[in-house]
Amino acid sequence: MSDQPRCPVTHFDHHSAEHAENHVEIYRKLREESPVAWTEAHGGYWVLADYQSVFEASRNDDLFSSGRHDEYGGPGLSVTIPKAPTAFHIPIELDPPHFRPYRKAVNKVTAPAAVENLDAVIKHYVTGFIDTIIEKGEADLAIVASVPASVTLDWLGLDPSQYQNYVDAMHTLVAAAPGSPEYQHAAEVAVPWVSKTVREHIAHRRANPSDDATTHFIESEVDGRRMDDDEVYSILELVISGGVGTTASLVTQSLVWLYQNPDQRQRLIDDPSMVDIAVEEFLRVFSPTQALARTIMEDTEFQGCPVRKGDRALVSWASANRDAKQFENPDEVDITRWPNRHVAFGLGIHRCAGSHMGKAMAREMIRQVLSRMGDYEVDLDNVVRYPDQGTNAGFHTIPVTFTPGERLLGDTPLFAEHYTKQKA
Ligand code: HEM
Repeated sequence: MSDQPRCPVTHFDHHSAEHAENHVEIYRKLREESPVAWTEAHGGYWVLADYQSVFEASRNDDLFSSGRHDEYGGPGLSVTIPKAPTAFHIPIELDPPHFRPYRKAVNKVTAPAAVENLDAVIKHYVTGFIDTIIEKGEADLAIVASVPASVTLDWLGLDPSQYQNYVDAMHTLVAAAPGSPEYQHAAEVAVPWVSKTVREHIAHRRANPSDDATTHFIESEVDGRRMDDDEVYSILELVISGGVGTTASLVTQSLVWLYQNPDQRQRLIDDPSMVDIAVEEFLRVFSPTQALARTIMEDTEFQGCPVRKGDRALVSWASANRDAKQFENPDEVDITRWPNRHVAFGLGIHRCAGSHMGKAMAREMIRQVLSRMGDYEVDLDNVVRYPDQGTNAGFHTIPVTFTPGERLLGDTPLFAEHYTKQKA
């Protein structure tokens, strides 16, 4: 192993309070001064901050492995620093060639055509959750964050009315500071509950196939055989974790920004067809998944830095998305920016499998909020950000007032319809 000192060394911790407060500035400084740098936080890791190094690392799976290597950085989820105490996640913790057949199975139910079939489900939950607040004229707008969890659970054939339990587990592991009481509760109570419930669901679906995504995974073939329960569970826990927090993070940040920029909000109200392009820009500037990790697989040089086998590396999509070498006026939010080659969904073979689903949900949520309660005013003194912005950025609480409107679901219950249909 190389004994060259790791350098340059920087003071950086993406889970610190300082980072939560100033992450845009901290990443800017890193890009300008040392786009690849070593920090001693959390046992030590490299931070990749500019577009070029993020691009190269995410397309070099031999050197930057996504695989789970418990011998480096301890046990746990390989793509976060520190490693989160979750089950093994497929396909995000696999390198090629094992990765490919699993990703193929995931793609079948997340491709654009499959997501089109979810349009009615998405619309149902967006309409229903807005119904729960629309007559009151005041609410916590973060309620829209319940939509992605409900849609994902419905899609998997799980009970969407229990969405809060899944948010407490999977979202908290990335939105709370490691070691905080919420984080401990997620790791010790909420995640075991998810594990038990989802495993029971897999067993139930093996005996009673349905038309849901869980049944699709149970029936998918990998290397000429059916997946076992552990493999199906690995995929389900990942899509729940991917589905629950990220889209909520995107939409909460976008809605607060639209309140702060009333001219831009009015443009989207006047022409809702602009929302599709605007969502791409919101993905770029807000980067819901701020950064994920890799493990370096050999002693070598990367962007002039002496990296060593077993070193951990944080790949910052958020920082790459504001690199002036790639984006003109990167700190300006231009809702008409196009083309927009942001990396909010990652890059390379692990690029987000749920990007179409995430975007479909975000567009519907933003369109309905703007058309049904478009004059909302945010009480900015009382918004609450996620305490930790290192992995997922966003808001827990967004107190708003608005002109009351009408409920639209009528007598259709929020949860019964889809779940009952799929429960078989
Ligand atoms: C705005 C919403 C979303 C954002 C910003 C986002 C972001 C990301 C990013 C950055 C990655 C790359 C991981 C890596 O390279 O290590 C990823 C992977 C992934 N995401 Fe998403 N995601 C979103 C929504 C979703 C949704 C709704 C799902 C549910 C189906 C999902 C499922 C996945 C899966 C399964 C992977 C792993 C892909 C692989 O390893 O091949 N994501 N996501």
